[in-house]
Amino acid sequence: MDNRPIGIYDSGLGGLTVWREVRRALPCEALVYLGDGKNCPYGSRPREEVARLADEAVGRLVAEGCKMVVVACNTATAAAIGALRAKYAPLPIVGMEPAVKPACLATRSGVVGVLATERSLDGDLFRRTAARYGSGIEVVAAPGRGFVELVEGDREATDEAERTVRLAVAEMLARGADQIVLGCTHYPFLIPVLRRVVAGRGVEIVDPSPAVARRVVQLLDAGGLRCDPDREPRYDFLTFADEAYQLRLERKAFGR
Ligand code: DGL
Repeated sequence: MDNRPIGIYDSGLGGLTVWREVRRALPCEALVYLGDGKNCPYGSRPREEVARLADEAVGRLVAEGCKMVVVACNTATAAAIGALRAKYAPLPIVGMEPAVKPACLATRSGVVGVLATERSLDGDLFRRTAARYGSGIEVVAAPGRGFVELVEGDREATDEAERTVRLAVAEMLARGADQIVLGCTHYPFLIPVLRRVVAGRGVEIVDPSPAVARRVVQLLDAGGLRCDPDREPRYDFLTFADEAYQLRLERKAFGR
């Protein structure tokens, strides 16, 4: 039994989509969520800078006594996961993987769309994953330009959000994509508007966060790291921004 918390980190509010799934899968576990906030968005920053920010964030979660860390940010995973695992070993660190594999297995049209930040799309992780699972399949990638800003500004339910999403998916829809992979943890907050935009086209939206939560469960079990099952869970929210942002993290986590 191990009652230390699980740390979950993102550039901002996006990793809360993973936090929700981890909480659902492991309702007794204490969770510490760190949403950087001060340096968000990461998506167009140089790789070295994202790696440095990720290191600082994981260091903070380690200092909080976390037994495991989930890097709930595709951009930080792509930039730094190897270095983080090496530096903080034997701490188990779970990263995000673009869910290209399940989408390639499920596609009927042979065309898979991927939405992610610019930094994730030009990284090795995406290129390798697309090459590995996408043979014989057309993978149409597009940056979700403006998506992170919409979510950070709580503007998911606006006309602006609908216009922004429509523009980003136009090409993949025109090429016949029947799967759209969400390769950034902010994007699931835009699922309601995405559903409206693709309505009637038989398109499936692939959110990898439930699979990440399953991976967390597996690793907890493998390491004998589960907490006492009778425990009341504790949820903490940290940020490198200000107190107002910390309150926003908390509100968004509980859907308020
Ligand atoms: N939520 C992050 C991701 O999964 C980063 C978004 C950003 O800060 O640009 O990539």
